[in-house]
Amino acid sequence: MRILVTGGAGFIGSNFIRYMLSTYPEVQVVNLDLLTYAGNLENLADVQADSRYRFLRGDIASERDVDRAFSLGPYDAVVNFAAESHVDRSLHLGVDRFIHTNIAGTQILLDALRRRGGGRLLQVSTDEVYGSLGERGRFSEDMPLAPNNPYAATKAAADLLVRAAVHSHGLDAVITRCSNNFGPYQFPEKLIPLMIANALEDRPLPVYGDGRHVRDWIYVEDHCRALDLVLRRGRRGAVYNIGAGNEIPNIELVRRILRLVGKPESLIRFVKDRPGHDRRYAMDAGRLRRELQWTPSYQFDDALRLTIDWYGTHREWLDHVRSGEYRRYFEKVYGGR
Ligand code: NAD
Ligand code: DAU
Repeated sequence: MRILVTGGAGFIGSNFIRYMLSTYPEVQVVNLDLLTYAGNLENLADVQADSRYRFLRGDIASERDVDRAFSLGPYDAVVNFAAESHVDRSLHLGVDRFIHTNIAGTQILLDALRRRGGGRLLQVSTDEVYGSLGERGRFSEDMPLAPNNPYAATKAAADLLVRAAVHSHGLDAVITRCSNNFGPYQFPEKLIPLMIANALEDRPLPVYGDGRHVRDWIYVEDHCRALDLVLRRGRRGAVYNIGAGNEIPNIELVRRILRLVGKPESLIRFVKDRPGHDRRYAMDAGRLRRELQWTPSYQFDDALRLTIDWYGTHREWLDHVRSGEYRRYFEKVYGGR
C-alpha cells in the first residue's frame, strides 16, 4: 500500500506514520507537510532514514505543491491530517489560516484526487463539528453539524466539501470524527501536554472558567488504529465517530495530572474562560465498534501515566518545541537537498 499522508509532521499524523510503518512491512508513505509552528520533523526522527518513508515540504492549499506530491504516486490512499488545529488560535489570532488550510486545502486535495486519481481519501475530522452537549447524550454520526468556534466551523466546512465530492463526483472518501487525543509528540499548547509541562516545572496550571467543561479523551495510538481500520474497511462515503468513552471534567483531569507528577494543587489557577467554550463532548462510537470491531486498547489512567513519563523523559523535545529550536532540524536534515 502506498499512502500520501498530509500534515504528517504534527501530533496525530506523526503517530499515524510511525504506526503504519511499524505495522505493515510493505507500506510506503509520502508525507506532505508545510511545517507550520505545529509541524516538527523531530517527531519523525526515528523513521527519517526508513527507505519506505519520504518527506516533502509543501502546502495542501497550493495546487503546485499537491501536484508535486501526486507525481510521487500513484497512491492507494490519501490521509488528510493537515490543519490548523488549535481552537484558541482560531479565536484570538484570526481565522485566515484556518480557512486557507482546513477549507481551501481540503478542496485542493479533492480536486487533485479527481484529476489524478489517488485511491481513497480519509478525511481526519473532529467531534467539535457537532457543537456542544448538555449534561446527557452523546454525539452520533447523523446529528446535524453545529460548530461553535471558528476552528470547528472550518472543519465542518471541509467535511461538507468531502461529502459533496462523494455525492457529485463519485469520489471514494470516508470521514472520521474523533474526540480529544493525548499522547507523545502533542504540541504543548493543548490541555494535557501544557498541564504536564507546567507541572514538571512548578509553573501555574491555567484552567478556563469553572473547570467543569468535559472532554472525552482517547490515547493517540487507539485513534491511529481506528484510522487504519476505517481506511482499509470503512464504507465509501460513511462517517465514523471515534472515541474511547473517557469523559472527564477538566479540573478533575488537571488534579490527576498533578497527583501523578507529584505536585501540589496550589499550582492550579482559574483564569478567564474561552469565549463560547463548548461545555461537553462525548462520543457514540457504536458504528466503528459494530462495523469494524474496533475497541480501544488503552485504559485512560495507564495511557495518562505513559504520556506523563514520555514528557518527563523528552525534556529536550519540549525545550526545542517551546524555543522554536525544532525548526533548525529541517535545515540540518533536509536543507542541503
Ligand atoms: P497538529 O496541529 O499537531 O498538526 C497539524 C499538522 O498539519 C502540522 O504538521 C502542520 O505543519 C501541518 N499543516 C498545517 N497547515 C498545513 C498546510 N497548509 N499544508 C500542509 N501541512 C499543513 O494537529 P493534530 O492535533 O495532529 O491534528 C491532526 C488532525 O486531526 C487535524 O485535522 C485535526 O483537526 C484532527 N483532530 C485532532 C484531534 C486532537 O485532539 N488533536 C482530535 C480530532 C481530530
Ligand atoms: O475534540 C477534538 C478537538 O480537541 C480537536 O479537534 C482539536 O484539534 C484539539 O485542539 C482539541 O480541542 P479542545 O479545544 O477540546 O482542546 P484543548 O486542549 O485546547 O482544550 C481542552 C479543554 O481544556 C477545553 O475545555 C479547554 C480547556 N483548557 C485548555 C487549555 C489550553 C483549559 O482549561 N486551559 C488551557 O490552558
